[in-house]
Amino acid sequence: MKIMVTGGTGYIGSHTAIELIQAGHEVEILDNLFNSKESVLDKIAEIAGTRPVFYNCDLLDYAKVLEIFQNGKYDVVLHFAGLKAVGESVEQPVRYYENNITGTVNLLKAMQETGVSKIIFSSSATVYGDAGAILSEDSETGHGITNPYGQTKFMIEQILRDICVADSTFSATVLRYFNPVGNHPSGLIGEDPNGRPNNLMPIVMKVATGEIPELSIFGNDYPTEDGTCKRDYIHVVDLAKGHLAALEHMKPGFVPYNLGTGKATSVIEMVKAFEEAAGRPLPHKFAERRAGDLPELCANPAKAEKELGWKAEFTVADAMRDTLKFLGKE
Ligand code: WQD
Repeated sequence: MKIMVTGGTGYIGSHTAIELIQAGHEVEILDNLFNSKESVLDKIAEIAGTRPVFYNCDLLDYAKVLEIFQNGKYDVVLHFAGLKAVGESVEQPVRYYENNITGTVNLLKAMQETGVSKIIFSSSATVYGDAGAILSEDSETGHGITNPYGQTKFMIEQILRDICVADSTFSATVLRYFNPVGNHPSGLIGEDPNGRPNNLMPIVMKVATGEIPELSIFGNDYPTEDGTCKRDYIHVVDLAKGHLAALEHMKPGFVPYNLGTGKATSVIEMVKAFEEAAGRPLPHKFAERRAGDLPELCANPAKAEKELGWKAEFTVADAMRDTLKFLGKE
């Protein structure tokens, strides 16, 4: 199939583009390079053998997006493009709603104008808000979301639900990621955000390289075995393969899937896993809790396994190994 990957030079988008190309699909990428680098395209070519056609384009530029779609004649869209820093979204809500919501509406308009009726949307476990620690696709969404970033993901899901009500032939597969970690086993591409990262693993990476002196662990007084928060960390290649499985099983309607391992790992356990893989200590200290953090979040991934034939295969140890390889410090 001919596939448009928005945000395809980003962390998850680039890993997914590789899996799509290796599966024989024709991939084109639209990205504004706000949080990625054009050089990723050469890495994709080196790994997968084909350099995707690339459009340096912002989804807020509707005229340009429409022109791309008029020429592209895509079968499916995989939509990754969006701002995703939770804390930043609290400080800059209007920027996040414009970028993520208006950008997505422009994309959906261009799809409608050019007869593209299939989308796989990069959503997030954040949409579950305070629905509990172990989450399945029928867990409540939209309640207790603590930040505009998460609200944009929930609102986009609602927009997709409404389109599916209006058009019974429209296919909206929604993939709710838990915590993506790791890098491609080749070591050629990985999580490489511009600016100061917000998530645990890119911060661990900067501590490992010395750019950040030590990791602050946000709270060790949570009701968990070691007092630190637990999350479902899923290797980015497993996540990418989940998109390929979703593509191969697309059907009309709004269809959500959790992409997680079903296993929760604490921050301390992540630190120990990195130290084990690196063979040296990772400087860290305990600090105050971070506002909005929940003690535990973990996927029930049974639906994706049953309906997509997909199950996460890589472990946290694999993710640490691949992270070190990407850092060139195996
Ligand atoms: C993980 C754990 C922190 C940094 C967010 C988004 C979610 C998704 C993934 C996009 C928490 C702790 C972190 C640090 C720490 N994003 N931590 N010190 O908050 O689970 O999820 O990112 O889809 O939508 O909500 O991920 O990596 O920020 O934090 O102790 O310097 O690591 O407290 O327990 P989170 P995270």
